[in-house]
Amino acid sequence: MLKTIWLVFIASMLFISCDNQPKSSEPTTEKETEKMEPNEFELLLNYTDHHSFAKPDEAVVTHLKWIADVDFDSKTITATASYNINNREGVDTIFLDSRNLVISEIRRDDHEGALSFQLHEHSGVLGTELAIPISKNTQTISIDYKTTEGADALQFLDPVQTANKTHPFLFTQSQAILARTWLPCQDSPGIRFTYEATVKVPKGMLAVMSASNPTEANETGIYTFKMDQAIPSYLFALAVGNLKYQSLGSEAGVYAEPNVIEAAAYEFEDMQNMVDTAESLYGAYQWGKYDVIVLPPSFPFGGMENPRLTFATPTIIAGDKSLTALIAHELAHSWSGNLVTNATWDDIWLNEGFTVYFENRIMEEIFGADFSNMLALLSYEGLLDEIESLNKDNRAADTRLKVDLDGRNPDDGLTSIPYDKGYFLLRLIEETVGRAEWDAFLKEYFKEFEFRVMTSEAFLFYLDQKLLSKNPEWNKTIKIKDWVYGEGLPDNCPKIISSQFEKVDAQLANWISGTSAKELESSEWMTPQWLYFIGQLDIDLNQEQMSDLDVAFGFTASGNSEIKAAWFEKTIPNNYTGLGKTVEKFLIEVGRRKFLTPIYKAILDSKGGITEAKAIYEKARPNYHAVSRETLDALLAEK
Ligand code: BES
Ligand code: ZN
Repeated sequence: MLKTIWLVFIASMLFISCDNQPKSSEPTTEKETEKMEPNEFELLLNYTDHHSFAKPDEAVVTHLKWIADVDFDSKTITATASYNINNREGVDTIFLDSRNLVISEIRRDDHEGALSFQLHEHSGVLGTELAIPISKNTQTISIDYKTTEGADALQFLDPVQTANKTHPFLFTQSQAILARTWLPCQDSPGIRFTYEATVKVPKGMLAVMSASNPTEANETGIYTFKMDQAIPSYLFALAVGNLKYQSLGSEAGVYAEPNVIEAAAYEFEDMQNMVDTAESLYGAYQWGKYDVIVLPPSFPFGGMENPRLTFATPTIIAGDKSLTALIAHELAHSWSGNLVTNATWDDIWLNEGFTVYFENRIMEEIFGADFSNMLALLSYEGLLDEIESLNKDNRAADTRLKVDLDGRNPDDGLTSIPYDKGYFLLRLIEETVGRAEWDAFLKEYFKEFEFRVMTSEAFLFYLDQKLLSKNPEWNKTIKIKDWVYGEGLPDNCPKIISSQFEKVDAQLANWISGTSAKELESSEWMTPQWLYFIGQLDIDLNQEQMSDLDVAFGFTASGNSEIKAAWFEKTIPNNYTGLGKTVEKFLIEVGRRKFLTPIYKAILDSKGGITEAKAIYEKARPNYHAVSRETLDALLAEK
């Protein structure tokens, strides 16, 4: 009986409707019958994305041709976007998302002249519903439009805000729902389209996208791009600057400004090895090349997994390759996220939790379990803090893996829960079923669902059918629903022991009992150990203690941004005088939100901090991307 159900399941799996990415294999008649009645799995894959106005079941965009002109003087992009559409239901309207765009004209192939269209009123972060009349026969529509100052995805930088200080710079950040601020589109992670683009930029500057890319600037300033694999809109990306390219292997390379390229190439030397390692774990890399672009420091994230071209903050260039786990993370998204994609932002743990797990496995392969376990333990410490703080803010519901972001900004779901609680769930499954079984499952999962969406519900079903039902004990041990739908951290969370951190504990105990910092045995410590050491320090430190540590270890002047930020967070509330102007300098230069939020919070909590935080923010704000500005505007407005 079980076997029959299983066969039916396998057969039906071939029929999961996969939107605009049909599988090539032709169904047989026997399976055809199966298709008639939607099976349980198909139903679980149904979803509504409450962050998009698109109705892809009716009419969907399948391909985009984008012709754009980037103007640094007016800080706008003027473009024509032409879309191939599939009018599935023969409907009379296609719905697109847009926000703060000026649309001048809309045309379609089966109609003479400009169309009248409707822009349904502005509704906060969701923007404007763009309703375009179509017919049964419409194959393409074209939109002429221009971006505005309200294009939150874009950050135009003046030369002084770049490394070389000679040219301006532009980069985009579309995830989660900002693509609609620079491209009218069906801005939902479950809707995929291929694209081609022609982009004009000032002569001497290079443009790169999440697509096939040029490697040097040309005379004309006109560049063409092609992305033949279908991607969701949140992975649509562009960067323009004075950029150089350095190859790092057969599939890998790095773009950066001229005076950063050498340091970047050294820092990311292991990238090709990471690609090879990732492939050996979970199957072929599907995107051709894997390059990274190092952006100016205002980039609001550590990294963004734009296909073929990860966007990265320069703050991971520490000079000693110690922060490259971030590259492993963005690379891992080439499977978890870019191939198998969260259906909605409520399911983001399917992107991020899987990616943290995959990242950790890459790091384990390359640097050993001793190292990757330190990273996992740091995640664990961060996770406990996050749960405590969400609980304190009456946000216990946001400690679930599956969150409810209806009516909210999807950015609200961007806590460490989907990342680290997600990671620990997958680690628990691995520890329960054994690595061999789990790896085989994951590899098949990425293959089976490549270029498709996944919901939390469908994943749970698939996992149970394919793996957990093999042994009745496994479900009882894991209790997966408690993890996905329950709050907080279940008590079966894996415990990690790190002998490397035990060494740190021992030295910390010595310091607490009076050994001076420079006498501690720390010469062999690696970055995670330093981060752990700083993290474990008592919240109350006096000037003498802080200065003892600083003189011995040079934290304030550290070239490692993670160490520096962790140190600031610890010492600012204790009004450490040795910090001088370094905090202000850091906050003016760096726009990475993960650093900014805790540092501003620390300043606000310190003596006289509110005035100080506001004064620094006033100077720094013009340097920040909209994503960081929005968070900090809210944080500082509370005070
Ligand atoms: N895709 C995320 C960044 C993101 C998520 C942007 C959701 C907007 C909405 C990226 O892969 C990421 O997770 N970046 C992390 C780095 C990582 C090592 C945890 C970051 O930027 O800190
Ligand atoms: Zn990520």
